[in-house]
Amino acid sequence: MRRPLVMGNWKMNGSHAANAQWLEGFRIPEAAVVDVAIAAPAPYLAVLSERFQRAGIALAAQDVSDQLANGAFTGQCSGAMLKDVGCEYAIVGHSERREYQAESDALVAAKTKAALAAGVTPVVCVGETLTEREQEQTFAVVARQLAAVIEAVEDVSEIVVAYEPVWAIGTGKTATPEQAQAVHAAIREQLGSAGSRVSVLYGGSVKSANADELFKQPDIDGALVGGAALDSVEFSKICESAISHLA
Ligand code: 13P
Repeated sequence: MRRPLVMGNWKMNGSHAANAQWLEGFRIPEAAVVDVAIAAPAPYLAVLSERFQRAGIALAAQDVSDQLANGAFTGQCSGAMLKDVGCEYAIVGHSERREYQAESDALVAAKTKAALAAGVTPVVCVGETLTEREQEQTFAVVARQLAAVIEAVEDVSEIVVAYEPVWAIGTGKTATPEQAQAVHAAIREQLGSAGSRVSVLYGGSVKSANADELFKQPDIDGALVGGAALDSVEFSKICESAISHLA
């Protein structure tokens, strides 16, 4: 399932009005050979489901519960609920959740399993902080985060991985294409025989101006886009870049 994928992550942004306006400006060619998805805030998922389908956009959640069965888990959404409203994907282990909600590698692995059990493709985020990069811990940190997931799931070829260096998120600092490529190659190697079938996305200040260079790298299969995905014209350009380099 190593398909090129460009996913926008709206994070905690949007409103009924802003979402409708976003859709007005979004354009990708018919029958695009690159999967395009948007991870919208939970309250808008059900409303956007049909509209996204008409626009050729797959629906994604920004998180999923690690719990499989319904029950007393206030504030959480199960994989089955996400599937029920049309989600194809769920982001798991985003660095903002690892930091602000103190999500551990073990919890991220459990969420990955829960998404898979519900038939929702987990987009597992990994990435090092600036301090970790400066201490030359990048490869060790990413390997540790990924190992927890590899250990937990039965068939790792069913996941998508997103390498998002924390220092490049929302900062305007992108990893150079070479820096990103080196980590992506290590991720693919760690995935073993499944590696050739797993899409590995890059995330961190991706915009139309740097997308071409990133997508030219052999182990970059797409992008997880934050800020630039809030502008649908800009996001469409990133999708076009993916279509020309990854299709
Ligand atoms: P930015 O593109 O705003 O750096 O965010 C990246 C990100 O966190 C996507 O999940």
